[in-house]
Amino acid sequence: MSEHASQKNRFMEWIDKRYPWTEFMRKHLSEYYAPKNFNFWYFFGSFSLLVFVMQIVTGIWLVMEYTPTADGSFASVQHIMREVRYGWLLRFMHTTGASAFFIVVYLHMYRGLIYGSYQKPRELVWLIGMVIYFMLLIEAFTGYVLPWGQMSYWGAAVITSFASAVPYMGDLILVWLRGGFSVSGVSLHRFFSLHVIAIPLVLAVLIFVHLVALHHVGSNNPDGIDIKEKKNKEGIPLDGIPFHPYYTVKDLVGVVVFLFIFCLIVFFTPTMGGLFIEPDNFVVANPMVTPPEISPVWYMTPFYAMLRAIPNKFFGLVTMAAGVAIMFVLPWLDRSRVRSIRYKGSLSKIAITIFVICFISLGYLGHESVSTLRTIMARVFTVGYFAFFLLMPFYTAMEKTKPLPERVTE
Ligand code: HEM
Repeated sequence: MSEHASQKNRFMEWIDKRYPWTEFMRKHLSEYYAPKNFNFWYFFGSFSLLVFVMQIVTGIWLVMEYTPTADGSFASVQHIMREVRYGWLLRFMHTTGASAFFIVVYLHMYRGLIYGSYQKPRELVWLIGMVIYFMLLIEAFTGYVLPWGQMSYWGAAVITSFASAVPYMGDLILVWLRGGFSVSGVSLHRFFSLHVIAIPLVLAVLIFVHLVALHHVGSNNPDGIDIKEKKNKEGIPLDGIPFHPYYTVKDLVGVVVFLFIFCLIVFFTPTMGGLFIEPDNFVVANPMVTPPEISPVWYMTPFYAMLRAIPNKFFGLVTMAAGVAIMFVLPWLDRSRVRSIRYKGSLSKIAITIFVICFISLGYLGHESVSTLRTIMARVFTVGYFAFFLLMPFYTAMEKTKPLPERVTE
């Protein structure tokens, strides 16, 4: 053994006697046996982790030059964009990162949906994931207020005004949320505090707990069969391969492709034609002028469309909240004997297709201005969205499933 290697060994020995580093790495990487049939859909967990880290890092640098006051905020963002070296890059990485986060998280959730990763014994992995998703929505909303553009201001005004629909206590809650009778610098300052400290901290803890829960039960796979049932003499799953180096290297390839697309957007079309940053947000907040159209960023528009589809404010709000809440109970709605869509029956396949069409269409409608036809369409798609979940106990129990293979298929 070379002098350098033995020095490294002695150093690791010293560490391991005081902290279980090697044991931790072994348990969670080199001896964590993941199913060998992971496919494209299994990239999005690591991408979510990458985007989270990117948001924290770019966020830290943005905060160095940002001023969280009603008078200084918009100008400080302009200062970042024009005067701070590479400030524009930091800002566009952060704004593109916000949308990228939702793209990868939605695809990650969709993977869970098609392969039944929420089913026993991974209910907690899914539930913690849902709490992460909910916190992400709040993180994105509070972040969008910070540049103090027109959409920041009016978006905050509309979203906080939802509180007033709560019977009896609504107006009290509204004033409490805003820190006054209208959205002001006080509201901006508290959203800033939530956006840079409270929610990222909670998210970091939740992501850790999400992964602990996953490693406790083990990953699902595209066949949805349990690889722990067939083990060799050493107790290693026959269909498992060590996460490191196999999946670390595979994920690294995915990360390169992901970063390539990410850079294309950051450098060539950072606002994504108004989808990632709306045009109105390049105009400073003006409480006297309401923008002609107020709509949230694309990742919230499916739920916003549900809200607008219902004529009554309170019931609209309940429907919108139910749209998110119903995903929490998904593990208890699916009564299928199999996990993966590969072995479920035609009813499940039709239902998932309808669900995807409804979700995307609601997203589109929530972004467009209101018209009679669009309101009717939003109602139809809202019914379709909820039908997917509410009818699930029936169609998953009724349909004929395909026989499961003994071992995972390649
Ligand atoms: C910051 C956000 C998130 C991060 C960093 C994250 C990270 C991860 C990682 C690294 C994995 C293992 C790799 C993989 O299976 O792709 C995983 C698995 C999983 N995640 Fe997430 N996740 C996040 C959000 C969510 C959300 C919002 C949900 C659902 C509501 C969710 C549900 C799941 C499930 C069910 C699995 C197990 C999948 C399987 O074994 O098939 N995650 N997550």
